[in-house]
Amino acid sequence: MTKKLFVKTYGCQMNAYDSNRMVDVLAPEGFLRVDSPKDADLVILNTCHIREKAAEKLYSELGRLAQLKADRAAIDDPFLIAVAGCVAQAEGAEIAARAPCVDIVLGPQTYHRLPAMVERALRGDGPIVATEFPPESKFDSLPEESAWSGISAFLTVQEGCDKFCTFCVVPYTRGAEMSRPVAAVVEEARRIVAQGAREITLLGQNVNAYHGRDADGEVATLADLARQLSAIDGLVRIRYTTSHPRDMSDDLISAHRDVGALMPYVHLPVQSGSDRILKAMNRGHTVDDYRRIVDRLRAARPDVALAGDFIVGFPGETQADFAATLALVRDVSYAAAFSFKYSPRPGTPAADAADQVPETEKVDRLTVLQRLIEVQQRAFNAASIGRELPVLFAKSGRHPGQLVGRSPYLQAVHVDAPTSIIGQVVPVMIERANPNSLSGSLRARNADAA
Ligand code: SAH
Ligand code: SF4
Ligand code: F3S
Repeated sequence: MTKKLFVKTYGCQMNAYDSNRMVDVLAPEGFLRVDSPKDADLVILNTCHIREKAAEKLYSELGRLAQLKADRAAIDDPFLIAVAGCVAQAEGAEIAARAPCVDIVLGPQTYHRLPAMVERALRGDGPIVATEFPPESKFDSLPEESAWSGISAFLTVQEGCDKFCTFCVVPYTRGAEMSRPVAAVVEEARRIVAQGAREITLLGQNVNAYHGRDADGEVATLADLARQLSAIDGLVRIRYTTSHPRDMSDDLISAHRDVGALMPYVHLPVQSGSDRILKAMNRGHTVDDYRRIVDRLRAARPDVALAGDFIVGFPGETQADFAATLALVRDVSYAAAFSFKYSPRPGTPAADAADQVPETEKVDRLTVLQRLIEVQQRAFNAASIGRELPVLFAKSGRHPGQLVGRSPYLQAVHVDAPTSIIGQVVPVMIERANPNSLSGSLRARNADAA
């Protein structure tokens, strides 16, 4: 009998990848993915713990699901609720205590054991809490991916983090840094390309710290991996995210010049433009180090677009520290940037710092920073007008006859075009720029420029 599964994903792209893999692991058990919790027999909430609101969202969602579960219990129809992801790892059994509707709590390293957990929960053994870091790697125990991952696919190559920035939960929720072997990554990439993917984004919490073993047992870098993947027929674009400045090696910077499939877009978070704050954050690099990396990237690939992450209101951040962040943003000039108010995370060192910045101050600084970033993003997009950009078309747009694709710089591009070019890279003359996307018209068909 077919059972139905609904998965809701919060947080980063690695969670999106994990959600797909949980669907894969449950497929042999007869579970089919559906689009609404109302149609499901099992709901998985794949959570994120990076900032406060993420956990709050989980509990309000669980409130709604508890009602649904009660309605189903009234007609004697089983309905399981599982909480996966980083909140599950961080809070464990507390989740089931606070929300008794929850049947399964499972951390990111235990997904391969999901079928056994579902079976136990159906037998009434719940709540089941699995937040250990098992000795076997989930990657070795997951079935081959079955879900269509699209023209533009994600592939996790590295997981976990050993850097312990003082604000961040990731080292605790995802565990120690590990890299998948080269062969496993290449095989998975071949399979998703055979299914129709044309672009792969390599994922990792610290993806450029990748150090997987190759066939000879030697350590391969992310640049080595990109070179190998670029030899796969049909794979026209390679991206990676998110990188840490400390791991931005010469080798990877050169790959941006030498590997044609490697896209000229680098998401390189810096968090702050003040050395004092970077030190308190335990980032392990200075503002000058970061500026030099940006210069080297631009020397290797002059058109490279940069994206950043910033935290405002980290404990002890003064107006002068914040001004230094604005100065750095002005100097680097970002194509895109993500900025957040510092959110104290339980169990992280910075959460206990005495000199917390008042909320009103955080809000003010965030507003100022986001205004600056928006101006830069608009300018970056506006500079595309009148240029011809190679666009990889991924799917139909919202309006009839319209397709959506991406420029090399990750800008969304809307074009009126036939669906037959989905999956192809086609030159587009950019005519209009919006804050978050571009639009234009097709110039030539079936060009194979990447
Ligand atoms: N591994 C990546 C970042 C992963 S978390 C890196 O090292 O850059 C994604 C982003 O969330 C971070 O770059 C940071 O800007 C933000 N973030 C993480 N913890 C936060 C916290 N406690 N408060 C506010 N923002 C945070
Ligand atoms: Fe978090 Fe820092 Fe690790 Fe990034 S490098 S995941 S911010 S601890
Ligand atoms: Fe969130 Fe965990 Fe990703 S905390 S950002 S889901 S690694």
